[in-house]
Amino acid sequence: MTSRKPIRKAVFPVAGMGTRFLPATKAIPKEMLPIIDRPLIQYAVDEAREAGIDQLIFVTGRGKTAIVEHFDHAFELEATMTGRDKSLDVLEPTRIQPGNLVTVRQQVPLGLGHAIWCARAIVGDEPFAIFLPDELMIGQPGCMKQMVEAYNEVGGNLISVLEVPEDEVSSYGVIDPGKRGFGPGAALTEVRGLVEKPSREAAPSNLIISGRYILQPEVMRVLEHQGKGAGGEIQLTDAMAQMIGSQPFHAVTFAGKRYDCGNKVGFVEATLAIALEREDMRDEVRAMARRLLAD
Ligand code: UTP
Repeated sequence: MTSRKPIRKAVFPVAGMGTRFLPATKAIPKEMLPIIDRPLIQYAVDEAREAGIDQLIFVTGRGKTAIVEHFDHAFELEATMTGRDKSLDVLEPTRIQPGNLVTVRQQVPLGLGHAIWCARAIVGDEPFAIFLPDELMIGQPGCMKQMVEAYNEVGGNLISVLEVPEDEVSSYGVIDPGKRGFGPGAALTEVRGLVEKPSREAAPSNLIISGRYILQPEVMRVLEHQGKGAGGEIQLTDAMAQMIGSQPFHAVTFAGKRYDCGNKVGFVEATLAIALEREDMRDEVRAMARRLLAD
């Protein structure tokens, strides 16, 4: 195995407006909507840490301060809980080493590519990970850990992909696959091209990009000059597409489950699926679901 520059930094673009969840997301960021008792952003941060990434960069916008507060020290809460002999263990996942959380603002939501570019000064000259927190990835190990293992083999740029029915491709970034089924877990596919939200006829495959990336810092220079793409937004997919050919580019098929929590049905599915997995509640939830379905 060749030694690579380790992945130490992760960018979490959380400046989107979350219009599909209005009015819930009028005053609360989409990333703070909870699946059971943890907000979406917590699942993404846990996944990053599991993969050995501890420098967290949040690209935020107006009305997103709750995300930063979630990972801050809550003095009054902790003092009151301690005074009442309540354990603080439940807050453990929200603790971040001082200096390991940085926020940058995306003043205007010009698109995912633009949000990533806003983090360029903090990312610097290192490869880095990107997490879209509304895509919830549940696996053992987690999705980013699987990607870091693949990165240690092939280096370069990696995106996580999964197969969807052909009539769904036009909502996503789609890859043009080359050689398939090699590397750790035979999960790697060569990426020959990328296209954002293609029509069903124009889609090169039904393998869609699914919310996790490991990219080389050169992507920032490409984004600098990236014009608007699909939906009038500056698209990360378009910038990545330009890097193919000059740098290694691979897709990793995630061995696990992915829930698209950016849409309502996906969010409900994630809530139910995770409740049915959790030892502390699965029996009750199963009985409740049976009751509801019998009506
Ligand atoms: P989405 O396409 O899901 O958009 O963004 P959204 O605004 O979050 O939600 P809807 O579609 O209005 O309901 C994908 C990811 O990119 C981030 C979002 O926060 C989300 O994590 N994003 C998108 C930005 O940070 N800035 C942007 O300008 C656009």
